[in-house]
Amino acid sequence: MKTNTASLLALATAVSALPSPVQKRACDAPVKLSGSENAFASYTLHPNSFYRAEVEAAVEAISDASLKEAAAKVADVGSFLWLDTIANIERLPTELATEIPCDNILGLVIYDLPGRDCAAKASNGELAVGEVDRYKTEYIDVIAGILKENPNQAFALIIEPDSLPNLVTNIDEQACQDSAEGYREGVAYALEQLNLDNVVMYMDAGHGGWLGWDANLDPGAEELASVYKAAGSPSQFRGISTNIAGWNSFDLTPGEFSDATDAPYNSAQNEQQYVKLFGAALKTAGMPNHAIVDTGRNGVTGLREEWGHWCNVDGAGFGVRPTSDTGDELVDAFVWGKPGGESDGTSDTSADRYDSFCGMPDAYTPSPEAGQWNQAYFEMLLKNAKPAF
Ligand code: GLC
Repeated sequence: MKTNTASLLALATAVSALPSPVQKRACDAPVKLSGSENAFASYTLHPNSFYRAEVEAAVEAISDASLKEAAAKVADVGSFLWLDTIANIERLPTELATEIPCDNILGLVIYDLPGRDCAAKASNGELAVGEVDRYKTEYIDVIAGILKENPNQAFALIIEPDSLPNLVTNIDEQACQDSAEGYREGVAYALEQLNLDNVVMYMDAGHGGWLGWDANLDPGAEELASVYKAAGSPSQFRGISTNIAGWNSFDLTPGEFSDATDAPYNSAQNEQQYVKLFGAALKTAGMPNHAIVDTGRNGVTGLREEWGHWCNVDGAGFGVRPTSDTGDELVDAFVWGKPGGESDGTSDTSADRYDSFCGMPDAYTPSPEAGQWNQAYFEMLLKNAKPAF
């Protein structure tokens, strides 16, 4: 065929009219995961390019040579990629266009419920209470479509951090009452639509200092299990995520807050105990009870004035790197859920999403809006990392 500018233009037009670009396939055959197996035993949590880019920019900003060298290593740590707005779903095709080794599993956090973060302000989301239809069609359906288009890629999902736990313990707050129906419907819809062969799912269960209180174990398990059942007990569902963006030690004994006056009412003084106790309650309630535990920022303990302090804890350090070598049959893996260096919430008291927890004496200030990079905080996590980088 003789080529000239006109025919090249015609060709370009024809190509751009094709339905969608062919996605790069991670493996050369479809991936088959199952809720009855620990995917992390055969897959490594992928160090995604979004966090890598944040860390690489941070490395550029460091002048101290040895700190710079240590910082560069953080880019190779696997972590979860947060799809925290409809617009940020775009992070997913961007990631899927990069090289992902066949034995890597891509971790995603599903986080955009209507009325998100009902008991706090820092992570209030884009969808208002009542917009569950938008959540379904503009958020979950779009993500499900992308996961279906990539059957050769393995995915691990953390479903909606803090949402159902808020309905258990914060239901006296009007915002949580208003959000409750949408949370239950939205989480059940997510579990149904994302129940794909190449996916394993974990529903968020807060942490030991939350649903771990003796009085919260059974109601918490019943809340989560009822949503799991409403979703049709999906086959790819494996259990819970705990300590996401949290600070609790996995196995510090007797536990960081074991001297507190209310300690006798909570036997889940570390995350391992929590997984054991809450796991037993989940089993009774009829829900799979394996767990992944966030160890991204729990390297240092003894920093919080109170167990409930959750925002940008000052003095924190990176914790154990992702691994399936947990020494506990119920615990599938230690993961980095919260990308260390991204803020939990702004310390600017005039901001709409300012939450007073982010201005507590044990919170690091100044801190930018939730999800935004905080270079000084990243460097602190790095200097305090345990194990060191
Ligand atoms: C917070 C933010 C969210 C961000 C996530 C990870 O929950 O609200 O925007 O993506 O943390 O840093």
